[in-house]
Amino acid sequence: MENQKYKRYTITAALPYANGPKHIGHLAGAYIPADLYVRYLRLKKRDVVFVCGSDEHGTAIANQAMKEGTTPREIIDKYHALIKDCFEKLNISFDIYHRTSEPLHHETAQQFFRELNEKGIFEEKVSEQYFDVQANAFLADRYIIGTCPNCGNTHAYGDQCERCGTSLSPEELIDPRSALSGDKPVLKPTKHWYLPLNKYEDWLKEWILKGHAGDWKTNVYGQCKSWIDGGLHPRAVTRDLDWGIKVPVEGADGKVLYVWFDAPIGYISATRQWAIDNNQDWEPYWKGKDTKLVHFIGKDNIVFHCIVFPVMLHTQGEFIVPENVPANEFMNLEGDKMSTSRGWSIEMHEYLADFPNKVDELRYYLTAIAPETSDSEFTWKDYQARVNNELVAILGNFVNRVMVLMHKFFDGKITGDIKLTDANLSNDISQLYNELEASFEGYKFRQAQQIVMEMARLGNRYLTEKEPWKAIKTDPESARETLHNCLVLIGHLATCLQPFLPGTAAKMFNMINWKAEVVTFDEEISFADGHQLNAPALLFEKIEDEVIQKQIDKLNAKRDAVNAANGGAVKEDEVPAVTPAKENINYDQFAAMDIRVGTIVTAEKVAKTKKLLKLTIDTGIDTRTVVSGIAEHFEPDAIIGRQVSILVNLEPRELKGILSQGMILMAENAEGKLEFVSPGSQMAPGSVIR
Ligand code: MF3
Ligand code: ZN
Repeated sequence: MENQKYKRYTITAALPYANGPKHIGHLAGAYIPADLYVRYLRLKKRDVVFVCGSDEHGTAIANQAMKEGTTPREIIDKYHALIKDCFEKLNISFDIYHRTSEPLHHETAQQFFRELNEKGIFEEKVSEQYFDVQANAFLADRYIIGTCPNCGNTHAYGDQCERCGTSLSPEELIDPRSALSGDKPVLKPTKHWYLPLNKYEDWLKEWILKGHAGDWKTNVYGQCKSWIDGGLHPRAVTRDLDWGIKVPVEGADGKVLYVWFDAPIGYISATRQWAIDNNQDWEPYWKGKDTKLVHFIGKDNIVFHCIVFPVMLHTQGEFIVPENVPANEFMNLEGDKMSTSRGWSIEMHEYLADFPNKVDELRYYLTAIAPETSDSEFTWKDYQARVNNELVAILGNFVNRVMVLMHKFFDGKITGDIKLTDANLSNDISQLYNELEASFEGYKFRQAQQIVMEMARLGNRYLTEKEPWKAIKTDPESARETLHNCLVLIGHLATCLQPFLPGTAAKMFNMINWKAEVVTFDEEISFADGHQLNAPALLFEKIEDEVIQKQIDKLNAKRDAVNAANGGAVKEDEVPAVTPAKENINYDQFAAMDIRVGTIVTAEKVAKTKKLLKLTIDTGIDTRTVVSGIAEHFEPDAIIGRQVSILVNLEPRELKGILSQGMILMAENAEGKLEFVSPGSQMAPGSVIR
């Protein structure tokens, strides 16, 4: 009867960078949903392996080590231990929590690289990269500082100007210098290996755009579609860096695998280690056509899990590709983007330190507001309200009422009929099971949790309707029957709660004196004659206003402390979701800008740059050339004829040897997506914008 298309399940959750603590937004985005799904699969007795671990390479780690004045090894040891411990305390039930610094992983990743290399998959290309002679190192884009060609900020980075938000490439910086030595870097040729994603466009179209149009989440499908439609390019899978996995070919000294090449292979290494530890064979979990592979991630990881890693798996030849990638959006915090470095976050270990006995409360709230289809918002007040009005008032209350009455009237002992006797109740319960399973199968965990809460509401309604506290006086047997039915319901409720609130479910099973291990969905809930219940225990306690106020104060204090430490500046790796308003200007300053409607007449890429397009614009006044940093967002052919807003009296400036006369106005959102600012309907070129 059961859908047996898949014989086993390989479930992965994004490997967190071991460069710092992880916050509850990460938890809500990837780890809790993955855990819910896995626990559900186990309750359905499916064969599943759930893998995760620390992502321990890349410039982020090397960076953090420099910042803390220590070595990458110390950083990863510290944060691996911290993050792993938090996941354990939060009851995330990984079968293994591995590390990409483990020799087994190095070996697995190198083997993977070698196989693709031997099959001739990679393209090798020599390109000029900035090199710091004094530090004797090639410089990652972040490590090149210079003047922004767009706004003149003298501290722009080689990948982005944090002041005006423009994304840059290092060669666009004016007066570039190295962040390591401060010297002017030199261009030096270096060889890298590229994965030619462009060659697999047809395969990706077939697999994702055709094959998963119906079952992947729209946010995930949409992102994939825009990547694929926008045209894919070869991606370098090696880097000049000394922290990472050595490139396993001759003549690649000083080069390591790009962290995004090695990290997803970490899922495979973790499975291998798990297999060794448990005397299993790892290969069917990655190569069996009857295995369902699912990646749980946040939305910032979509391209790597839907495009890059699948191409790697596909080109290797034997591996399966993910069946689904149910990525989540982001969770904001009290009205602002969550960010560790800006101090606006609740780190997992901070929550655990303040609320060591409220793990299920957090799991519950994060699931209730999971950012499944759009960004969502954590607020302490809402957390409090959900705990008090739902966990305490609905779930806790039902269980407590039944337990107290059973003890009061019947000394906590079951006699006589011990199966569910109420046909309506029984139907309702099996209906809820069906809905619950459908929600899990569709990765709708918010909905799944609501369904379980519906079961608790059902219990409360049933109790209120039957009023056993009254019936006990006139018809004690009917009161007994009502409470017995409620106990069976508690058994089902606990069964279904296991994925969401494992600690609470265990307490409930203990109260009804049920065996301790996992209770699968197909288990019959009934009690033997004479079954003795345990004493009622409180499942949840009300959270008082003071407790919440303290958290809000703490959060604000943390941000203030971080801001003070940074001298009020926005931290380098984060841009606020919405940039704050600039200082006021007077009307004359505004009126000094001559902004017009223009029409794009021609568009072409500027040679040897990634980001620049050379446009000619009909401004009504003249037809002029403008160089614009939008090449990564628009195909030249697709924008010819578009109406735009152009600042025509901006001082002309030379970019890559081309005189740029004016600037095109663009709207940019927090994710860096660009859109032209155009009139709502066609206007003659030269029309004034004011
Ligand atoms: N470390 C990455 C991040 O935190 C996620 C890596 S996922 C993996 O964004 F697939 F590469 F492992
Ligand atoms: Zn700038």
